[in-house]
Amino acid sequence: MTDFTGSRILLGLTGGVAAYKAASLARLLVKAGADVRAAMTASACGFITPATLQALTGQPVFTDMWDSRVPDNMGHIELSRDRDLILIAPASADFLAKLANGLADDLLSALCLARRCPLLVAPAMNVEMWQSPATRRNVAQLRADGVSVLGPASGDQACGESGMGRMLEPQQLYDELAAQLAPKHLRGKRLLVTAGPTYEPIDTVRGITNRSSGKMGYAVAQAAAEAGAEVTLVSGPTSLEAPCGVTRIDVTTARQMHEQVMAAVPKADVFIAVAAVGDYRVADAKSHKIKRGSGNLHLELEPNPDILGEVAGLAKGPMCVGFAAETENLRENARAKRQKKKIPLLVANLGQETFGRDDNALILLDDHGEHELERAPKIILARQLIAHIARMLAEK
Ligand code: C5P
Repeated sequence: MTDFTGSRILLGLTGGVAAYKAASLARLLVKAGADVRAAMTASACGFITPATLQALTGQPVFTDMWDSRVPDNMGHIELSRDRDLILIAPASADFLAKLANGLADDLLSALCLARRCPLLVAPAMNVEMWQSPATRRNVAQLRADGVSVLGPASGDQACGESGMGRMLEPQQLYDELAAQLAPKHLRGKRLLVTAGPTYEPIDTVRGITNRSSGKMGYAVAQAAAEAGAEVTLVSGPTSLEAPCGVTRIDVTTARQMHEQVMAAVPKADVFIAVAAVGDYRVADAKSHKIKRGSGNLHLELEPNPDILGEVAGLAKGPMCVGFAAETENLRENARAKRQKKKIPLLVANLGQETFGRDDNALILLDDHGEHELERAPKIILARQLIAHIARMLAEK
C-alpha cells in the first residue's frame, strides 16, 4: 500500500450518486496517511452529508464561499493554497462544464479556478450525458488545459442504464493519486515511445496492418510523463487520446514512423518501441482503387526498416527497450530477440490475446535475468516498467 504521509489533498464532491464512493476514497487516503480536506457543492450535499466526510477526514468540510471558519474569508483561495492536488470526485457533467468555461460561482469551482496545484477530475454521469457533444467538448477543453481526466468506466449505472459514465472505483482513484504524487524518477529525461499499429497501403482504399489498439504504448507514455519525463509519442493510427502532457506525432506507415523516430532520437535518453510495426510494405502500392479481376491478385512485399534495430545500432544512441508479442516459445524467442537486437531490456507479453484488452501480464528480460509482472491493468504494468527503466538508468 502506498504511503500518503505528507500528501495534502483537496477532495471536491459535486452532485452525483457516486458521492458515496468518494467517502470510501477519503477513508482509504486517510488510512494511508494523507491529509484530506473536503469541499462539497450544494448538490453533493443532497447525496451525502458533510458530516460523513468530516468524520472520515477528521477535518471541517467546506460547502460555502462565505464560511467564516476560513481565515480572511478568502475560502476560494486559501483552501487550496497548501494542497498538493485537487481531485473532483464525483465530477458531474454540470461541474465539468463550469470548469471548462472558467465559471466560479460557488466555493468549489472558485477553488479550482484559483488553484496553483494540479487538478484531476473523475467524471460520473449517465451514459447519454457523457456522450453528449457538449460534454465531449468540455472534456476535450479540460484536457487541453492540462486537467487529468480519470475514467469514467463502463458498466451498470445507478439510473438503470448501462454504458460509459460510471465513476472509477475508490481503489482505482487511489492508485491514480498515488501515481500523480509519486516521486519524479525521470525528471529531466527525454523519452521517445512508439505505439499502435502501422498501415501499409495496397491501393487508395485497402491496406495491410497489424492488430494493435495502442493501449500499451499509450500507457507507457502516460507512466513516463507521470514520472516527470518529457515524452514524445510517435503513434500509428489508433482511436486513443494522447495522455496529458505528452507530445504526440501521428504517422500511418512504418517508413513515416521510422522517419519521425530518427528525427527525434538524437534528443532522446530512452527509446521504447511498443508499436506493432509492419515488417513489410507493398512494393508497388497503386494510386487508384484496384479493380476486381477473375484471377488471383499477387502483391509483392518488401521489408520495412527495423526501427528498433537501427536505433539500437547507433553509436551514441539512447537506452533501447523493445517489446515482443510471440505466439509460441515466448521465453526462448524473447531471449533470442534481446540478443539479436542488442538491447538492454526486452518486454515480452505473457498474456495471450492481449489485443485491445485493458490488462496484460509481462516478463522483463535484462542482464540480471527475467522478472515477471503479474496480470494487471496496462497502466499499472506501464508504471512498473517505467520504475524498472528508471532503476536501470540510475545504475548506468
Ligand atoms: O522482431 P519483432 O518485430 O518481433 O520486434 C518487436 C520489437 O521491434 C518491438 O519493440 C517493435 O516496436 C520493434 N520493431 C521496430 N521496427 C520494425 C519491427 C519491429 O521498431 N520494423
